[in-house]
Amino acid sequence: MKTLKFDNGDQMPAIGLGTWKSGKEEVKEAVKIALKNGYRHIDCAATYGNEAAVGEAFSEVFAEGKIKREQVWITSKLWNNAHKKEDVIPALKKTLKDLQLDYLDLYLIHWPVAFKPDVSFPENDEDYLSLEEVPLIATWEMMLEAKKQGLVKHVGVSNFSAMKLEELMEETSDIPEMNQVELHPYLQQNELLEFCSKHKIHMTAFSPLGSGDRPDGMKAKDEPSLLDNPVIKKIAKKHGATEGQVLIKWSEMRGTAVIPKSTNKERIIENLASAGLHLNEQDLDEIAALDKHFRYVTGEFFVTKGNSYENIYDDDDYQS
Ligand code: A2P
Repeated sequence: MKTLKFDNGDQMPAIGLGTWKSGKEEVKEAVKIALKNGYRHIDCAATYGNEAAVGEAFSEVFAEGKIKREQVWITSKLWNNAHKKEDVIPALKKTLKDLQLDYLDLYLIHWPVAFKPDVSFPENDEDYLSLEEVPLIATWEMMLEAKKQGLVKHVGVSNFSAMKLEELMEETSDIPEMNQVELHPYLQQNELLEFCSKHKIHMTAFSPLGSGDRPDGMKAKDEPSLLDNPVIKKIAKKHGATEGQVLIKWSEMRGTAVIPKSTNKERIIENLASAGLHLNEQDLDEIAALDKHFRYVTGEFFVTKGNSYENIYDDDDYQS
């Protein structure tokens, strides 16, 4: 499998296990199955509400001694209610405690959006802090401090547009090492990919399979299915692979990391095995033609009077 290489020589396995939407009851088993079947990259976040269960899996697997902590790349993310300077390191320490770890391989600012400290999920404008009140650079400086303290090896961001990255990069010489965003054949993000590649910022693709298990409230009416797309189905059939494998391999071949979520043993194993698939030029051309700038995760849940969709993505591609 491909790896993403960092300046200090560290390597992140391109295919990891996603844990967003994995229930507390299932995620422990899913992480154990993944690690025992070859995964060496697990993607977590405080807001997924399941880090303590993921931590139990890490603790049990590492205690068995066959797989060592240092062999696994573990990412987590700072939630939006801990952007204030004084809240960043305590939030990180809570994640480390829940995951039963001494350090993370990668810590990301989850969204370029800040909430008040006691707000888990905003219900009205008053629940937000503006980027003037809590500038992203202030949060970023604490991420760098966490790295300096050895609590994390690498730091980055998530859901950042090129404009947000540019603004941050104007204020720091220690730029993000990663930008994790939604990426799949319907949202290929070629410009952002080019921008990140030019600045040596790695990318991770979330929702690579279309995140069909999102709650109904997060789904648009008549949204297109990636797994049922006829081109993806045709390519899968041609290679004797599954649709999921084609989608995962496509991300890996573009040089990004990719974090398909599954709590099902067969699919966890199947998803990692996509590394062995080979897509040819014709397959890639056909998939390239599927781009429709479609977001499954619209960020709509952050849109209030005071915080527009454009504030998040800095573009006007809001489709609904
Ligand atoms: P399950 O957890 O039951 O396997 P995403 O990674 O884009 O968020 O998508 C996750 C969704 O895709 C979940 O509903 C997950 O279900 C499902 N899924 C994961 N792997 C596959 C696969 N190989 N084929 C089809 N569906 C998959």
